Amino acid sequence: MSTTTPESVWQRLAAHRAELGERHLNELFEADSTRAGRMQAEACGLFLDYSKNRVTDETLRLLLDLAKTSGLAQRRTAMFEGERINTTEQRAVLHTALRRPASEVVMLDGRDVMPDVVAVRERVARFAETVRCGDWRGHDGRPITDIVNIGIGGSDLGPLMVCEALKPFAHPRLRLHFVSNVDGVQIDDVLRSADPGTTLFIVASKTFTTQETLTNAEAAKAWLAAALPAEGMARHFIGVTAAPDKATAFGCGRTFAFRDWVGGRYSLWSAVSLSCVIGLGWEAFQEFLGGAAALDRHFLEAPLERNGPVLMALADIYNVDGLNRPARSVAPYAHALRRLPAFLQQLEMESNGKRVRRDGSPVGRQTCPVVFGEPGSNGQHAFFQQLHQGPQVVPLDFVIVGRTCEDASSTPLWANALAQAQALMQGKTEGQARAELLASGASEAEADRLAPHKTFPGDRPSTAILMEALTPRSLGALIALYEHKTFVEGALWDINSFDQWGVELGKALAKAVLKDAQAGAPSSNLDPSTADLLRRLTA
Ligand code: F6P
Repeated sequence: MSTTTPESVWQRLAAHRAELGERHLNELFEADSTRAGRMQAEACGLFLDYSKNRVTDETLRLLLDLAKTSGLAQRRTAMFEGERINTTEQRAVLHTALRRPASEVVMLDGRDVMPDVVAVRERVARFAETVRCGDWRGHDGRPITDIVNIGIGGSDLGPLMVCEALKPFAHPRLRLHFVSNVDGVQIDDVLRSADPGTTLFIVASKTFTTQETLTNAEAAKAWLAAALPAEGMARHFIGVTAAPDKATAFGCGRTFAFRDWVGGRYSLWSAVSLSCVIGLGWEAFQEFLGGAAALDRHFLEAPLERNGPVLMALADIYNVDGLNRPARSVAPYAHALRRLPAFLQQLEMESNGKRVRRDGSPVGRQTCPVVFGEPGSNGQHAFFQQLHQGPQVVPLDFVIVGRTCEDASSTPLWANALAQAQALMQGKTEGQARAELLASGASEAEADRLAPHKTFPGDRPSTAILMEALTPRSLGALIALYEHKTFVEGALWDINSFDQWGVELGKALAKAVLKDAQAGAPSSNLDPSTADLLRRLTA
């Protein structure tokens, strides 16, 4: 019976880290030119290259040991089979059921959930088609022209990212808008150019209690009420929620439900993406689901050594914890993927931004890195200076699309991505910088003065994810890849990746501050700094 415990493997990893020392990535490639070929994986049309991370075969062997010793395979099966792995909310985690083929069976509490999943899918598809073909008409009989998704967090970031990414599939007559911020400026911007008679609001909220969403939905209701008779409102309000009664009580004429075993940040596979289905069509959305379902099968069936999400997670965990690099930048080299970093921020940081294990004891090590990013090549002209020459090493994900559009070459775009990853890894020594300066005609003194400024430490890790083109299928696979990577990391850190208690304190205090603001004076609950700020804001 193996006595290896995850803790003992973490310790062996730390010892290995010390042994490996500060070996530069260049050295690792010079010592082993075949490493690139070995540190790659394919998953559902996505090509993964993690060889530009400071891992050796021994590091990988230890990380795979950690995965095995941590019971990753059992936890993975537990998730797919509907066990209540979200232990603090006593819920199953079955967002994968939302993309499973209708013929499959997913049991929860002795009941197959797929018939319900398929029924909602069909209702969403049918309804979306009525809006797309103009059958669903506003109160005054005109077809809908504007769809306004009102939602925040998982009820906004996913659908918005998908609609931006798959714009080539957009419906010619329909305009999609996403309103999330409680700052009324955002909804005003949308309503200013919209016509009440042809605008359809989708109020998307798992709980249907979120302040920002209800505030914006009330504003939309008031805007409609100013133009339409009361009996005409319901046609313009659709609810998407796990609390259908609340949506009906709010006045939604039609509601699409999903279940509490779908986490908000995992809900883009559900009716929460109604806006996408209306905008892109059911066929494209089905492809999106299909791409993710294929990645689910890969995650479930591929051996850990060749499992895309597992290998990505192991490289990340080693960067975060093994090498103490608590930040990661995501650079999607496709304008259409510009909302991917924001989506991943919620997915990863709300899932794994935790410091206690499932049993409540401290994790005692780094967990989720700070995730940030901008599309490539924009980021290069913004914060890449820090990534190349700053003292802190920030690993990157380069998400590279071979062909982003039909009528222009994407070569300059992906060439920049490859060059950035190479520059981050290889760097430039002071000697090389000095030689270049001298070769460009600089004097010895000038070269000595400038060379330190033009030196790049290099040894900056990155993982590349390549896809031939951005299609509904490849996008579905990409998002599922990141979801399962996040799952693997949570499993190895032994945390519950599916609750988010950390968001509650601020919400509760916001209610108290709002009450004080409405009273026009700070109550005794506020600390002096907050009280003073409130006094100034209500003066
Ligand atoms: O506050 C965080 C959060 O609960 C996220 O987990 C969720 O995606 C978002 O708010 C919106 O919640 P809801 O869909 O219930 O309005």
